[in-house]
Amino acid sequence: MSAAWTPQDWKKKPIVQDVVYEDQAHVDRVLNKLQRLPPMVSAAEVDNLRKQLKDAALGKSFLLQGGDCAELFDYCSQDPIEAKIKVLLQMSLVLIWGARIPVVRIARMAGQYAKPRSKPTEMYNGEEIHSFRGDNVNGFDPNDRKPDPERLLGAYFHSAATLNYLRTLLDSGFADLHEPSKWNLDHVRSENVKREYESIVTQLIDSLDFMKTIGADNGTSNALQSVDFFVSHEALLLNYETCLTRKLASSTTKEMKWYNTGAHFLWIGDRTRQPDGAHIEYMRGIENPIGIKVGPSTMPEQLVSLLNTVNPNKEIGKVTLITRFGADNVEKHLPQHIEAVRQSGHIPVWVCDPMHGNTKTASDGSLKTRHFVDIIGELSQTFRVHERNMSKLNGVHFELTGDSVTECIGGSMDLKDDDLSTNYQTYCDPRLNYEQSLDVAFLIAKYYENERKTKDFPNL
Ligand code: PEP
Ligand code: CO
Repeated sequence: MSAAWTPQDWKKKPIVQDVVYEDQAHVDRVLNKLQRLPPMVSAAEVDNLRKQLKDAALGKSFLLQGGDCAELFDYCSQDPIEAKIKVLLQMSLVLIWGARIPVVRIARMAGQYAKPRSKPTEMYNGEEIHSFRGDNVNGFDPNDRKPDPERLLGAYFHSAATLNYLRTLLDSGFADLHEPSKWNLDHVRSENVKREYESIVTQLIDSLDFMKTIGADNGTSNALQSVDFFVSHEALLLNYETCLTRKLASSTTKEMKWYNTGAHFLWIGDRTRQPDGAHIEYMRGIENPIGIKVGPSTMPEQLVSLLNTVNPNKEIGKVTLITRFGADNVEKHLPQHIEAVRQSGHIPVWVCDPMHGNTKTASDGSLKTRHFVDIIGELSQTFRVHERNMSKLNGVHFELTGDSVTECIGGSMDLKDDDLSTNYQTYCDPRLNYEQSLDVAFLIAKYYENERKTKDFPNL
């Protein structure tokens, strides 16, 4: 980062996916208020995540990132927060067990309120209205589509309340590995999934018993009683992000640096990663680890130039590359990306998002869905392509929820196209439900078990 960088510099660059408000004076009042509100995360937490992601980039740990496509203010409530944390904890437990390496957990949560859209408007009852841009811009209700600046403050307070409850949960032993059985398997229909999860829990309890017997675990070990949990969102609304960007002392060097204090990790979407655009300009200046979505339209040389811009010192793991090509496109694009990045000398965290390249329209012609086989297809090919190219997949990124929604087709509960309307709740992209999320974790865990033996991805 050049010494002259400031959090406002992006305003001189062309911007896409911007929100236009009617009353600029109202926007200014809101931004002034946001600027005075306290940080939500600390420099030490962000530095800690950066360290953990360096390990992930070096293949010493595995990143699990997941949560809603569009988080709603309404999800800021006890049950949905607990359900999401529970499914991410259970998935991470399965992954640790299978892969035998630590898992870094980042939730798409406590701020994932803004959405880029392919079209700024849509037709409703013969009238053109703004598309839903996420709860921090406008409402999903067609009568509430006018962008409202007050929603930016709503985003701050809902993020803060969500994060506060997440911290409360972790502090009060929700993530205690001594009691994984309390994360019960309500709503899981498949006997196989239940059996496999329970078998891991039994083995874990046995191992903990053994450790207690030999005195290695006296029940107060921090690593077993609680876990690190980080929060993330897409850095889309740059005015909001700028207000939460503060100069803080680095926990390691004590130097004053710019941190985004609204989340530990931020990413740049596939629609906003223009090399000379406002979003890249903003992202290059912050200390936080950042993600860049990489899609079929990303040219390998453009990817390298983006990496040089946002990470000129080539810090290992500072950037997470989240590939999302679609199940049919991995072989075509990923090898070139891996090779270009290798030659550039950058060492990113390679992550697969098997969701965003695999969105389809259901047979009713209106609902968006994703097929579990495509998701697993993209994931397994990404594992293989990395392996074949002497690289390693370091993590996964999912749109998921802890609830029993019916938005994606397939999985061990065998959801069919006809079942989608039973509990279709998403306001944006279709998410894996609780059981499908565990299914994916088991498949990845099995890949690692097989890797130790045959190096093959398990069949469905
Ligand atoms: C998202 O992650 O919700 C998203 C919009 O993804 P992408 O930018 O990869 O399309
Ligand atoms: Co999405």
